[in-house]
Amino acid sequence: MHITLSGKRALVTGGNSGIGAGIVSALADAGARVAVNYVTHPEAAQELVRRVQAGKGEALAIQADVSDPAAVAGMFQQIDRAWGGIDILVNSAGIDGPRAPAWEADLAAWRKVIEVNLLGAFACAQQALRRMVPQAHGVIVNISSVHEEIAWSGYSAYTASKAGLGMMTKTLAQEAAPHGVRVLSVAPGAIKTPINQAVWSDPASLHDLLEKIPLNRLGEPDDIARMVVVLVSDAASYMTGRTVFVDGGMTDYPDFAHGG
Ligand code: BGC
Repeated sequence: MHITLSGKRALVTGGNSGIGAGIVSALADAGARVAVNYVTHPEAAQELVRRVQAGKGEALAIQADVSDPAAVAGMFQQIDRAWGGIDILVNSAGIDGPRAPAWEADLAAWRKVIEVNLLGAFACAQQALRRMVPQAHGVIVNISSVHEEIAWSGYSAYTASKAGLGMMTKTLAQEAAPHGVRVLSVAPGAIKTPINQAVWSDPASLHDLLEKIPLNRLGEPDDIARMVVVLVSDAASYMTGRTVFVDGGMTDYPDFAHGG
């Protein structure tokens, strides 16, 4: 089976780092034109654009904070002007917020996580659907987390945002399906990116993390990106409304390999 996204117009939020950057490269390798959204580090976005162009692909960098609906609307207008619309949206922008038990959590920080991870994904999906529904095709993939299912002490905003993304995915998929548009989520496990650098760069916490992963390695952004390419392609044309876990078995309860 050969997958090509030739001619497709894609937007990846948070596309200049971590999992998002891996997705940008994989979509471009498959032939898509890719808009690389970022908030900070424009040089990282520009570097990715340069690399795509060097491979004879098309890419552009767009700054927008997804938690600001006006900025999101402006970003989609830029894509309209450049490419006349959009076929693929990948909501990858996300933050985990400061670690704190609920009784110590700062409400402003809690709200920010929800605004970026959940409201931001919705605002982008809304703009995308306003274009995809009339053209009767398109795919949205939300990057969720194993913490859509697994509780994580100290990160109640993050886990709530990811669980919310899962149900938002199902609902938007139900709304959009009659219009030929698919909506899915991918839930990564522990992928080696800047968001968890403090964990994988410390030998003791890395050891602890690996114990939670049956396949016994951290994931790479490309492990997620390859799945996203499949899901946005016609190879997955019969899939919608679900979260696909790509987690090395993290949600397979490795502690139950013994005892019980
Ligand atoms: C988090 C990472 C964490 C992983 C597994 C992800 O959603 O962003 O920091 O390592 O889940 O717990």
